[in-house]
Amino acid sequence: MLDGKRILLIISGGIAAYKALELIRRLRERGASVPVVLTAGGSNFVTSLSVAALAGETVHGDLFDLTRESEMGHIQLSRDADLIVIAPATADILARMNCGLAHDLATTVLLATDKPVLAAPAMNVRMWQHVATRRNVADLRRDGVSFVGPNDGDMACGEFGPGRMAEPDEIVTAIENHFQATHELPLAGARMLLTAGPTHEPIDPVRYIANRSSGKQGYAIAAAAARAGADVTLVSGPVTLDPPAGVNLVNVQTADEMLEACNRALPADVAIFSAAVADWKTAAQSDNKIKKDGGGPPGLALTENPDILRTISCLEHGRPGLVVGFAAETENVLENATAKRLRKGCDWIVANDVSPHQGVMGGDSNTVHLISDGGVESWPTMTKTDVADRLVARLADALRGVANAAR
Ligand code: C5P
Repeated sequence: MLDGKRILLIISGGIAAYKALELIRRLRERGASVPVVLTAGGSNFVTSLSVAALAGETVHGDLFDLTRESEMGHIQLSRDADLIVIAPATADILARMNCGLAHDLATTVLLATDKPVLAAPAMNVRMWQHVATRRNVADLRRDGVSFVGPNDGDMACGEFGPGRMAEPDEIVTAIENHFQATHELPLAGARMLLTAGPTHEPIDPVRYIANRSSGKQGYAIAAAAARAGADVTLVSGPVTLDPPAGVNLVNVQTADEMLEACNRALPADVAIFSAAVADWKTAAQSDNKIKKDGGGPPGLALTENPDILRTISCLEHGRPGLVVGFAAETENVLENATAKRLRKGCDWIVANDVSPHQGVMGGDSNTVHLISDGGVESWPTMTKTDVADRLVARLADALRGVANAAR
């Protein structure tokens, strides 16, 4: 289960750090490689020499190594890992992680990573029960961090209660369970490219052309796909939503930038284009604010934006296996969307009615029709989260079908 896995271990400063040495051994026995970041606090409890001897690789200390940092060492460390484990995780590192602080290597790695994180807390019982720690742990759980322990028992400080770090065997089991669960997730291993939100097409430095897209449906799909184990790159126009957990978010403003970001995100197994890309942009953007000088409104010459969905659907090389477009229509929804699927060259279209009698755009529910070459499937009105989950389930079925056909 752990063979070939790269588990980045962060050892922070607690007496339980000695158990991290045993943890390294057990993980390596199971075939994992274990690069280690030892914090300044951690190095008060275990030496970098013992850690390096057991890990079989150089230990990353707290100080930034300038040569490594010129190669973005902290990004590379988190990029190379399949999982980040913090053992022991002190109250302090949990608090700093929750606040997004990054003044040492360990917290910088934690802030820079999009990889799953498992924390094994270890601290005095009162620190564990303190409302600040409870709040930090609850926030981190919501952000997608997993926890193993702490256990009840006698503590090094002479007290009794929850706060003892989970035993190395328990941490190994939690790590194995993580990989087992990830392996079984319906979109495990699938690369997904997703666009969402509106685009802003500048007129001058202060004005732009935009639309009413909230990005909610696209963000819900990104979150659902990440929960289902996909490796999601979300290329988003300007929205006011929180980034979904576990997703690579690329922020863009214009359609041109969106297309460029999509091309950079390829290859992908699935591409979903839920963004409401502006159809037109100004032919020339004014460098200065256009003045209201009494001469009447300026004539805005427009040119067409690239059609991202069509461009990616028609790629000769590197076309994603499954391309899904969206069609927001105000009349003849099914007819228009069916024609659009063929015109754009995509495999599926998710069509919805955005005419005013359907309610305002940007709401929390959606009524969609899934159009494929097999016909039309009309789904009942449901929340955007439920639409996302159902779409993800359909994608998983389709990808499984492709995998079976390839066998
Ligand atoms: O052409 P129309 O905007 O109706 O098509 C909607 C679909 O095409 C959506 O999936 C949208 O994300 C995509 N699209 C695009 N680039 C454009 C216009 C639309 O990717 N320039």
